[in-house]
Amino acid sequence: MEDLFVAQLKALRAAALDRHLFEISSSQGPEIQIVARRLINFSSNDYLGLANDPRLRGAAISGINKFGVGAGASRLISGTQSPHARLERALAKWKGTEAALCFSSGYAAALGAIPALVTKNDVVLLDKLCHASLIDGAKLSGAILRVFPHNNVRKLESHLEWTRREHAGKRVLIVTESVFSMDGDHAPLRELIELKKQFDALLMLDEAHAVGVIGPHGRGLAAAEKLSDDVDIQMGTLSKALGASGGYICGSNDLIEWLINRARSFIFSTAPPPAIAAAAIAAVNFLSSSEGEERRLLLWEKIRLMHELLPASDLNRKSNAASSAIFPWIVGDEQAALDLASALQSEGFFVPAIRYPTVAKGAARLRITVTAAHDEDQIRALCDAIQRLSANL
Ligand SMILES: Cc1ncc(COP(=O)(O)O)c(C=O)c1O
Repeated sequence: MEDLFVAQLKALRAAALDRHLFEISSSQGPEIQIVARRLINFSSNDYLGLANDPRLRGAAISGINKFGVGAGASRLISGTQSPHARLERALAKWKGTEAALCFSSGYAAALGAIPALVTKNDVVLLDKLCHASLIDGAKLSGAILRVFPHNNVRKLESHLEWTRREHAGKRVLIVTESVFSMDGDHAPLRELIELKKQFDALLMLDEAHAVGVIGPHGRGLAAAEKLSDDVDIQMGTLSKALGASGGYICGSNDLIEWLINRARSFIFSTAPPPAIAAAAIAAVNFLSSSEGEERRLLLWEKIRLMHELLPASDLNRKSNAASSAIFPWIVGDEQAALDLASALQSEGFFVPAIRYPTVAKGAARLRITVTAAHDEDQIRALCDAIQRLSANL
């Protein structure tokens, strides 16, 4: 058995696909401490700089003082405490849906929701670049799974035609992300909605990297395009721009009641710590406030600066406006991506290489993310370093 792992690990190392943990001995923020070094962090999803915000910290501390640390039981037994219920009401109000349900992570939300929505003989149509949580949820459901090329609406349409022919009367679920996690581009939401209506399918939209960043008060891409009412299942996470932890599904009362009864990652898992739910409420309240909206607009100033200063590349096309806080520097070769990450680290920047299985083999990249908490000098310094390094490639 041990030999087996040794051989497998050796193979990973030979392919430059071995992965390691970095221990950060500071709180999250634009600067982090790794071992004895302070590095400027351009790899975090804490887009609004809320993970260490005094409002969230204060809410978590009061939450601990009043409700303790652990929830002690699953939500359906005795684990539903007031912060969970209040958070769900706040999320539904913020997203403009009838109801919301919280999970212990975004991963758990996808893993619980998809198998509750579709089952054997139903069909899931999934964008090729969807996050692992959505792929795993779709696989776990046992439904027939068809993948369409990234954002290819024509191919999706032909899958829908095939489904109508071969699986008439079965439930069809289209699954996609609003902002793609490793590429930062948007889904063609309006066209997807036209198709889902034409073929009477359900649409599940993961807004993990859009909430807090896009749309009025950070409500996400569907809200920005005034299409929220046409998205049947709105998924998101509290662990990125909202600075806390946990996942959610927003939608109709019936959808949420069904998930309470059937989503196994919700039913068979201890409720999230109430203090974390309290911190997430503070994040939702902040986003809903004028100060929150200012912070989001500040993030967009930083995004535009980054877009302007980064060298032109396939995904930082100067002709297009920046679409999110994610800037992928696609290198391709795994070892080359590792070398670039370590070159940046020697210059004081933390941007780890993203490799398979997070992205396809041969599509390794540096996934650069900018946050509202970065200052202009930090962004300029990173872009200078990237200019220099890319000139030598
Ligand atoms: C698109 C997408 N969906 C879902 C998740 C899972 O969310 P969480 O980190 O809260 O489990 C992530 C996080 O990496 C993500 O990028």
